[in-house]
Amino acid sequence: MKNFQTTYLGMSLRNPLIAGSCGLTNSISHLKTLASKGAGAIVVKSLFEEQIQIETDKVIKIEHGDIKVMTQAPDKMFSKRIYDYDEAYAYIFDFARRNTLGKFLDFLKEAKKAVDIPVIASINCVSNNDWHSFARKIQATGVDALELNIFVLPSDWRRSTEENENIYFDIIKEVRNYVDIPISVKIGYYFSSLANTVVRLSESGIDGLVLFNRPYNTDIDIDKMELSQGPVLSSDEEYNHTLRWISILSGHVKCDLSASTGVHDHKSFIKQLLAGATTVQVASALYRSGFDVIPLILNKTEEWMSANKFETIDAFRGKFSKSNIENPAAMERVQFMKYYSGIE
Ligand SMILES: Cc1cc2nc3c(=O)[nH]c(=O)nc-3n(C[C@H](O)[C@H](O)[C@H](O)COP(=O)(O)O)c2cc1C
Repeated sequence: MKNFQTTYLGMSLRNPLIAGSCGLTNSISHLKTLASKGAGAIVVKSLFEEQIQIETDKVIKIEHGDIKVMTQAPDKMFSKRIYDYDEAYAYIFDFARRNTLGKFLDFLKEAKKAVDIPVIASINCVSNNDWHSFARKIQATGVDALELNIFVLPSDWRRSTEENENIYFDIIKEVRNYVDIPISVKIGYYFSSLANTVVRLSESGIDGLVLFNRPYNTDIDIDKMELSQGPVLSSDEEYNHTLRWISILSGHVKCDLSASTGVHDHKSFIKQLLAGATTVQVASALYRSGFDVIPLILNKTEEWMSANKFETIDAFRGKFSKSNIENPAAMERVQFMKYYSGIE
């Protein structure tokens, strides 16, 4: 048996394959199965920031697109337009009623008792409104770490790059004040200077970055003439984007990197590690191939390690990191020219 041992967010993992946050990490029986199939750690389904705000009475008035939020005193009340259509409120209220904070905390406590691998809680957040203190309650459940899935779609043309990016740094600073457990931050890739922002985020007091969240894809149904959504699950061809950025950024960041999106088999799993990922997360693969995809990836990786004479993950992690290349953009430019030349 090869040594798959990996340190992620300061925790010891038996291997770097993590069951990522999704609907399949939302029940104790699934968590037990994921652990028994060999997952190195589990990120549970996220709690939404809006749930915290609604249930802790932080949202006190919602009217025509304005959410009025109580901060400390009535005179400090401010109004914030978060959503543009009334249907969103109805959905969020209904969702919060069905998924209470108490239930979430009980689930985390139970999860910790149910499995002997690290359990990572997750909060999905979009703003720096006053929800951070809840992180302390999450810590009190005994979970091993907290993943913050921060996704600010920079779609508001009135907001500058700095305003959008500050939300990430402000959230991290606030949450750090409330918890001592390791924090990882899961981000998308809509940043105007992605490499610079990722490096600055890695220096902001967090322990890991998850690259990348897979954004909800919008689509249009031309028969029904209405908006629709793209596929919820990724395909096995979607790993390259993450691979590029893990490879460019590993070695430059001051925290761990966890690769997410498009990993469906041992090949893309190994590639992310070769690019320099500390861990690799799978979600869609669990839906498409079932929980047995975990032992399959691990067994095939072991075979590959034997064939290539690697005894440990550390022996090959980062071998294809571009951290030693001074200017990856110039290198990619040449690759791009080669790629298209000769095709007429
Ligand atoms: C059904 C489903 C539910 C998800 N729910 C969450 C969630 O609650 N929190 C989160 O951070 N990511 C969530 N994700 C995103 C996954 O964790 C992952 O980042 C994304 O699907 C890309 O990875 P994949 O290609 O392995 O699926 C969800 C994904 C799916 C398919």
